[in-house]
Amino acid sequence: MISYKDLGLVNSKEIFKKAFEGQYAIPAYNFNNLEQMQAIVKACVESSSPVIMQVSKGARNYANETLLRYMAQGAVEYAKELGKNIPIVLHLDHGDSFETAKSCIDSGFSSVMIDGSHLPYEENVALTKKVVEYAHKYDVTVEGELGVLAGIEDEISHEKSNYTRPEEVEDFVKKTGVDSLAISIGTSHGAFKFKPGEDIQLRFDILEEIEKKIPGFPIVLHGASSVVQEYVKIINDNGGELKDALGVPEEQLRKAAKSAVCKINIDSDGRLAMTAMVRKVLTENKGEFDPRKYLGKGRDELVKLIKHKNEHVLGSANRA
Ligand code: G3H
Ligand code: 13P
Ligand code: ZN
Repeated sequence: MISYKDLGLVNSKEIFKKAFEGQYAIPAYNFNNLEQMQAIVKACVESSSPVIMQVSKGARNYANETLLRYMAQGAVEYAKELGKNIPIVLHLDHGDSFETAKSCIDSGFSSVMIDGSHLPYEENVALTKKVVEYAHKYDVTVEGELGVLAGIEDEISHEKSNYTRPEEVEDFVKKTGVDSLAISIGTSHGAFKFKPGEDIQLRFDILEEIEKKIPGFPIVLHGASSVVQEYVKIINDNGGELKDALGVPEEQLRKAAKSAVCKINIDSDGRLAMTAMVRKVLTENKGEFDPRKYLGKGRDELVKLIKHKNEHVLGSANRA
């Protein structure tokens, strides 16, 4: 059993409380490799932002669970070396079973998501409660989910979103003891969230209903990439084929961050930033074969993107 506290990580409790009171959101960036980890830490130190570094099941398979834990410990040390001991949470994204959540808690994660959103309500309650009971013994915070996002969630694909039902949230939070709740109000995972010409509008009315039922409770927004068009263009101009990729307008994320939404998940925008730079460098330098040359440029761009999000969208800059 490795405690996250010994690794220098924090759980999400205190930072969510501050985010709620200060009307901003904590960024949750996914990472799978060294360059993403470096970029997240550097950007969050430079913008003085608390951060949630999150790992999906796919990331655990890709990067190895043990290495990821050491990387998170490394992230804490790297932040200090860069000059600021920012709060860093190591979070399991879309945990799909009690066993996965337990294994993460036992290996140093400070926060886990148990995603039972695709299960019948009572089964979601039972699974989430079981994870909470285990996690809270070790002061690890838990995120649950009600409502299903459209798009792809870890290999499970949903055609249409199934909005969170405000009438369920109070009962769910009470019965499970979760520390935060992911909701579905029109976002989706990936780079194709909306169709061209569609009136893009998150369901703030549902969010308001939810806030009334559980006042002050931390809400989480998944699928919150903006699908930065500048990156889509660079990708397409350099041999890529991303047609009609569209995301959540920044203005709507700013509005969400001021509400009870305390955590905003961003993965796709980071992927796009990296891919855009890698494609550009390789197209412009056909003889290049040193990964540091193209991954380094991708990493630099990711730093820029994350600082922009923290400073101008989520409002988490200068809150560490
Ligand atoms: O929720 C999905 C995240 O973007 C993680 O994606 O499962 O491909 O690592 P992944
Ligand atoms: P995006 O695909 O919009 O970046 O969402 C990521 C996410 O919700 C991870 O859980
Ligand atoms: Zn998600």
